[in-house]
Amino acid sequence: MGKDVIIACDFASAQATYDFLDKFTGKKPYVKIGMELFYAEGPAIVRELKARGHKIFLDLKLHDIPNTVKKSMAVLSHLDVDMCNLHAGGTIAMMEAALEGLTRPDGTRPLLIAVTQLTSTSEERMKTDLLINEPIDKVVMHYAANAKKAGLDGVVCSPLEAGKVHDVCGKEFLTVTPGVRFAGGDVGDQSRITTPEGAKAIGSDYIVVGRPITAAADPVAAYERCVAEFVG
Ligand code: C5P
Repeated sequence: MGKDVIIACDFASAQATYDFLDKFTGKKPYVKIGMELFYAEGPAIVRELKARGHKIFLDLKLHDIPNTVKKSMAVLSHLDVDMCNLHAGGTIAMMEAALEGLTRPDGTRPLLIAVTQLTSTSEERMKTDLLINEPIDKVVMHYAANAKKAGLDGVVCSPLEAGKVHDVCGKEFLTVTPGVRFAGGDVGDQSRITTPEGAKAIGSDYIVVGRPITAAADPVAAYERCVAEFVG
């Protein structure tokens, strides 16, 4: 599986997204569409970016009863995205149903990855709010193993967890990692971070990079730096 840099297009409108991507003349970066943009613009934004030649990670983090997730995944599969995701907390049955819904009649399907515990959830909150009395590391690896058992392709995780996920679930199991910053760059609200080079060394398969590219004075140069450091 080829390593790639995915740009988190955390914009509020289609126009802002097009204005940003128009800077990349001749290049078609892999992009992530999240809830904000999808809820604002609907499936049209996916179709338009696909028509423009971008690969798309649709980050909608589904979590519902298996039947609902299965039917919703079938819709996303018709949208022809390249990668989509769900919460591993929905259980193995939900993940299996999702995979079934996502698989097209010809057997092809987008990559399906699972969110384990959100990186915004601390071990303390997991214990007090969710009543999960285990070390968070153990919970993350258990959820990753569940995702693998259900037949999924990988997980979203911190780049610092990517090596351990590969140890537990195998090298082919994908790690998609946000929390990437350039050395000496603005950290913002991220905490467990590393550089593109660091993510490469730990073994991330895809890095998801937002503000270090979208807020850069020269986004194209920032993207190229990311690719050079991560893909090599
Ligand atoms: O701007 P920044 O590089 O921090 O963007 C990271 C992207 O990855 C954002 O779209 C954020 O919502 C997403 N993300 C994350 N941590 C997770 C899951 C998703 O930062 N655990």
